[in-house]
Amino acid sequence: MVWRYPAGMAFADGTADFRSDTVTRPSPAMLEAMVTADVGDDVYGEDPTVNRLEQTAAALMGKEAAVFTPTGSMANQLALNAQTRPGDEILCVAGAHVRNYENGAASAVSGLSFRTVDNPRGIVSLDDVARAAAAPGYHMPRVTLLVWENPLTISGGTVVPLEAQLAASAAAWEAGMRVHLDGARIFNAALALGVEANELAASADTVMFCFSKGLGAPIGSIVCGPADTMEEARFVRKRLGGGMRQVGVLAAAAQVALEGRGRLADDHALARSLAERLHERFPEAVDLEQVQTNMVLFDTGPTPWTDVELIETFGRHGILVGDITPGVLRFATHKDVDGDDVDRILGVLDAL
Ligand SMILES: Cc1ncc(COP(=O)(O)O)c(C=O)c1O
Repeated sequence: MVWRYPAGMAFADGTADFRSDTVTRPSPAMLEAMVTADVGDDVYGEDPTVNRLEQTAAALMGKEAAVFTPTGSMANQLALNAQTRPGDEILCVAGAHVRNYENGAASAVSGLSFRTVDNPRGIVSLDDVARAAAAPGYHMPRVTLLVWENPLTISGGTVVPLEAQLAASAAAWEAGMRVHLDGARIFNAALALGVEANELAASADTVMFCFSKGLGAPIGSIVCGPADTMEEARFVRKRLGGGMRQVGVLAAAAQVALEGRGRLADDHALARSLAERLHERFPEAVDLEQVQTNMVLFDTGPTPWTDVELIETFGRHGILVGDITPGVLRFATHKDVDGDDVDRILGVLDAL
């Protein structure tokens, strides 16, 4: 069989796509697994490939059960819905994905609002938890769920230290809250922190992670947690139209991606080398301390060019990059870019 996609590096047409780690194409091993997957109707719980993936993920996270979902947003929203009641508040940092980038799902789907903490590095402190837990009487919503995001996407993939997460989660539990971890890229966080993913997951009741980001699968995410909470999540998934029938074809690729997670170290090394080379040229534009996982933020303010000019110029050279906030470019590394592509970025800048 001839696979359409190359095994790695720039895409077949030579494009190097640094906009996100979600852009990867399935590897030959993933495509092979998809074609040969043993499937059944997952709404009846009869898809052996999905069941295996859910068991593997739950075990890796140290949880009782797991529910496979089409997207990370749905996995987050199932966790939120299953652990709150309409009218409750969620405690999280202001930049959290669940608050800003899920199109209002928490309020539209589950009737929730947010109690936010202004911490650009994703840290919710013991004081924040104590304030949120302070008895509301009859005048304020109940804060019933603490949500972590680790790594934090908006800050360019910086990580929340394990100790900080453990301490505030313990306080939240003490106050009767539940805790959810949006670990879309949890294996990147674990690698950067030098801990196991289940150590991070241990500070949450529920944890979600994505196969479709740094792990490189084309589609799919998963939410893990206690068996009864996952039962409810499965019910809500069906309510939202996420019962996916013979979805083992996707779970098969996700399983391959999960087993290949060792390669994330390459992405981190590539991001670091890109950051250092950008920093040599524009020290003010790159904060090296921020480069902790597979993303590099490049502030165009200290350069002679605007973000729009740079995006257009890179685009003409077959390099795709986007803004994370106005004026700040984000380069994400993943399995389909390599050192040659990083050379190309520097080559374009040097020729300007
Ligand atoms: C931290 C975080 N959580 C959740 C998501 C949502 O994942 P999806 O795009 O699969 O809905 C993303 C997507 O980038 C993310 O970065």
